[in-house]
Amino acid sequence: MRLSSANINVMVNACRKASKILIRDFGEIEKLQVSLKGPGDFVSASDIKVEKILIEVLQKARPNYSILSEEIGQINNDASFKWIIDPIDGTANFLHGIPHFAISIGLEHDQEIICGIIYDPIKDEMFVAEKGNGAYFNNQRMRVSSRSKLKNCIIFTGGHKGESKDRELALEEYKKFSSKVLIPIRKFGSASLDMAYVAVGRCDGFWQRNLSYWDVAAGIILVKESGGFVTDFDGENQYIQNKTILVTNSKINKEMIEVLGS
Ligand code: IPD
Ligand code: CA
Ligand code: CA
Repeated sequence: MRLSSANINVMVNACRKASKILIRDFGEIEKLQVSLKGPGDFVSASDIKVEKILIEVLQKARPNYSILSEEIGQINNDASFKWIIDPIDGTANFLHGIPHFAISIGLEHDQEIICGIIYDPIKDEMFVAEKGNGAYFNNQRMRVSSRSKLKNCIIFTGGHKGESKDRELALEEYKKFSSKVLIPIRKFGSASLDMAYVAVGRCDGFWQRNLSYWDVAAGIILVKESGGFVTDFDGENQYIQNKTILVTNSKINKEMIEVLGS
């Protein structure tokens, strides 16, 4: 069984094509890593190459859609359909030769994400979802986990980015959650994969401050179509505006809001 619609097929094709470059560059980075003096440049070159291919494929198939992509910014901002692209989510991992990063593409229509794809090219793991048509992991229907007690859950978060006040808040949240769960909080360094892992039930919840729209766009629809919840820290749907995102299975949302909410 697979999710097949015109837009999903376009997104899958774009990811498959761009991932060839990504895999090749990752192989070189692993070999060259020690002797490479300015690996930041190399990664930027990979980001830009991947982004270019994604945009070429998407634009060819859907010339009238707008684009918001991390490196290039906005292209044609007027259309009601907009691709939201993160060409490499998990750049620091990529740079260090850690095989945990993804291409992430969301499709927004009238300010709502209606399709999403997150593709981990190294593990060949593809997560796709479309509004009303479900969510799929490598062509199998996926669901969030059913764990109902926070203390038995695996919870993910990310780094402490941004202003020092936000760093402190993130550390406080980390401490609070650490006292609530038996298994230590995980930080894997790719917000899109964090969300995909909630969607597929590997992890039960994820929270993070200060993420950008392209980090979470695809993950939003993946989690919703897998039966999970996406809210801000107070349980409301202002997660993009507030830059506080909480992603959970359907059981632990309340318990997590009790820890995070104002
Ligand atoms: C980053 C990753 C990371 C998160 C950072 C993001 P990038 O994206 O998603 O997990 O903690 O806040 O910026 O820079 O690798 O595309
Ligand atoms: Ca990112
Ligand atoms: Ca990125």
